[in-house]
Amino acid sequence: MSDEWSALRAAVLDADRLVRALASGRRKGQPVPVVAGREVKRIELRVVDLKAGRHLQVVSYDDTQAHTSNHALGDEAAAAVDALVAQPFASWHVDTTESTHQLRVTKKGAPLLHTKARSDAVTVSHDHDRAKDRLLAEDDPVLVALGISDAHGRVKPTRQAKYRQVEEFVRLLDASLTEAMEQGQVRTPTEDDPLRVVDLGCGNAYLTFAAHAHLSRRLPVRMTGVDVKQQSADHNSQVAATLGIDADFVVGSIGDAALDRAPDVVLALHACDTATDDALARALDWHASLVLAAPCCHHDIAAQLRTTEAPEPYAMLTRYGILRERFADTLTDALRAALLRREGYRVDVVEFVESAHTPRNTLLRAVRLRGDAGSHRRASEAEESAAQEYDDLLAAWGVRPRLGELLEESGLSR
Ligand SMILES: C[S@@+](CC[C@H](N)C(=O)[O-])C[C@H]1O[C@@H](n2cnc3c(N)ncnc32)[C@H](O)[C@@H]1O
Repeated sequence: MSDEWSALRAAVLDADRLVRALASGRRKGQPVPVVAGREVKRIELRVVDLKAGRHLQVVSYDDTQAHTSNHALGDEAAAAVDALVAQPFASWHVDTTESTHQLRVTKKGAPLLHTKARSDAVTVSHDHDRAKDRLLAEDDPVLVALGISDAHGRVKPTRQAKYRQVEEFVRLLDASLTEAMEQGQVRTPTEDDPLRVVDLGCGNAYLTFAAHAHLSRRLPVRMTGVDVKQQSADHNSQVAATLGIDADFVVGSIGDAALDRAPDVVLALHACDTATDDALARALDWHASLVLAAPCCHHDIAAQLRTTEAPEPYAMLTRYGILRERFADTLTDALRAALLRREGYRVDVVEFVESAHTPRNTLLRAVRLRGDAGSHRRASEAEESAAQEYDDLLAAWGVRPRLGELLEESGLSR
């Protein structure tokens, strides 16, 4: 094993100092990494205290699900790490209490390790109960200022669902950003040129402030919230002043609110109905590097399905109101995903919070692909096939998705 891999392995297995380790991506020309017999996109490792003692926990993520395995510290954990290190992940990111290690595998398969001493103090929680292992502690001043937590720093019973929703969204944002930055899909921000994040349809800016609180601990970030309501901007500017945070709140519609600069990251959490389409169209127009959008209701396509004839033999899918609405949700998001892919994005559709907490728990995650000539060729093949899939779906179902219309109006159509 080379020095780089040995150093990385040692950092992961240093249970007293490990904060978390992430591995993601597929190495060029290699198969998809496989963990416990399943192809995975990403793994996350941390140390947890279980009844049976301290363990190394490995959570592996495929397209839709997370799987967890626990390995007793010592030989068992070492064997698990050796098996993971042997997988063709493109990059590793290891945070310890003292350093950050980033390992990237070059096109020729050589490991490049970059190690940086931490400038911030960090404490590690080994609590295996994720509810207690939050990115934002319940007594975080942001949560108190937003009225999610009370003055004693405890989440109010009536705000538990919002807390969980925002927390899980930020967790996905954090992981997606880490992966996209390591793969060069999102630029590395600087103090002079911070990461620009816009939250479209921000409402009371729970997500805007929570994302700022978490991201600003690890990188320079500038948040902007957009909402059509003046009252939201007034309230949010007041909260920003209380917290001493520099953030902008723009009053305007998602479709044409003016920003002083195009953002790197676009967020939209439950923007109503076709406001999600407006958000995605803006993200495409801005060439945003990363887009995370959790759609809300899907009335538009549901209404269209009521008046169009379903293709044979699928009439049963739209005959009953409830099934039609559920199918409309799926069709709408499938069409959105196809359009994002057609426009050069890699797209995942994931659940960001358990369905028990909200049925509106689907999240479209899109990363704008950039790369060398080879990857451009593969990307354009993927774009062509997404365009074809989109056209076929439209022809079959006879619907006019709002995002497609917006892209046509802005000249982005094929
Ligand atoms: C369901 S709320 C979600 C608020 C916030 N994102 C959250 O999850 O807490 C939807 C918000 O989007 C805003 N909104 C809906 N359509 C909009 C549009 N076209 N332009 C700007 N804001 C819009 C509404 O005013 C509302 O504040």
